[in-house]
Amino acid sequence: MGKIILTGDRPTGRLHLGHFVGSLRRRVELQNSGLFDKIFIMIADAQALTDNADNPEKIRQNIIEVALDYLACGIDPTKSTIFIQSQVAELCELAFYYMNLVTVSRLQRNPTVKTEIQMRNFETSIPVGFFTYPISQASDITAFRATTVPAGEDQQPMIEQAREIARRFNGIYGETLVEPEILLPDNAACMRLPGTDGKAKMSKSLGNCIYLSDSSEEVRKRVMSMYTDPDHVRVEDPGKIEGNTVFTYLDAFCQPEHFAKYWPDYSSLDELKAHYQRGGLGDVKVKKFLYAILEELLTPIRERRKEWEKDIPAVFDILKRGSEAARAVAANTLADVRSAMRINYFDDAELIAEQARKFQG
Ligand code: TRP
Repeated sequence: MGKIILTGDRPTGRLHLGHFVGSLRRRVELQNSGLFDKIFIMIADAQALTDNADNPEKIRQNIIEVALDYLACGIDPTKSTIFIQSQVAELCELAFYYMNLVTVSRLQRNPTVKTEIQMRNFETSIPVGFFTYPISQASDITAFRATTVPAGEDQQPMIEQAREIARRFNGIYGETLVEPEILLPDNAACMRLPGTDGKAKMSKSLGNCIYLSDSSEEVRKRVMSMYTDPDHVRVEDPGKIEGNTVFTYLDAFCQPEHFAKYWPDYSSLDELKAHYQRGGLGDVKVKKFLYAILEELLTPIRERRKEWEKDIPAVFDILKRGSEAARAVAANTLADVRSAMRINYFDDAELIAEQARKFQG
């Protein structure tokens, strides 16, 4: 069995830098590494509907935004299969069978679901579909026999539940499903990139995101107004690095070669940090450095997006063909699942013969 990637995003908005460092950048590297036999990238519209049932138009509008962001970042449709979750009906059937393998209390303990329920103020009116989305996510992953799920830390509990479901299924019905592993970002800043206001996470509702498709000017404004150290009032004052968003972003994006290119006064991030901590280094200079780094990263992404935007029907065609290919793979796994569960009655000559014998006495 080969190495297979499945991962995806909910189409609730354009993708931002948090998505980029948390998973997108890694996906492109893995895609181009040649180490994987198959790569599936899913636009999780059905999952997005679990808490947007009353706003399907939002999801519908964002399918193309997410697809464009993927292509702009370098996901290559000739190497990776990009598809839309709702177009693969097999995933629902798998989820329906997996539901029997998970208890309500286990779902209630899922920390990501817990936080999301709080964030959305669902209290006692939690949609069943939302509550059970970890099970549906287990279907997404196992349908493609994914060995590897590159994702952010918040997805850890989902992967853990998928592993449990696969293990339970295999224990009861025989070895059928693959237990996936999560592939987390390799640095702490990437794991949890804060919003530009220093708040926990980038989120559209907080208005603290830098989107991959933001213009140069939008990025500049966001960087220049970033949260830093509130006690670092005068340039001479010593500054704090911890909780200083600009430095967290530098941890996530700065490479040694950026110094030679954009700020030859320093030779490493450690040196820059030490100066800031000693005092005598103003926020504006550090922000300009970060802006230069982000522009270098975002300019080609923006340009590639502009190219694809000229041919939207071609993007939909990529999604359609990807969804067809994904469906064939999921159907294959579903057939194995049905036969393991012994509900493949009409393909089971042995069952028919056995029943015939039984009734002939
Ligand atoms: N839960 C993911 C998110 O919030 C989206 C997703 C759905 C996903 N199914 C998946 C991610 C399977 C990885 C694997 O964006």
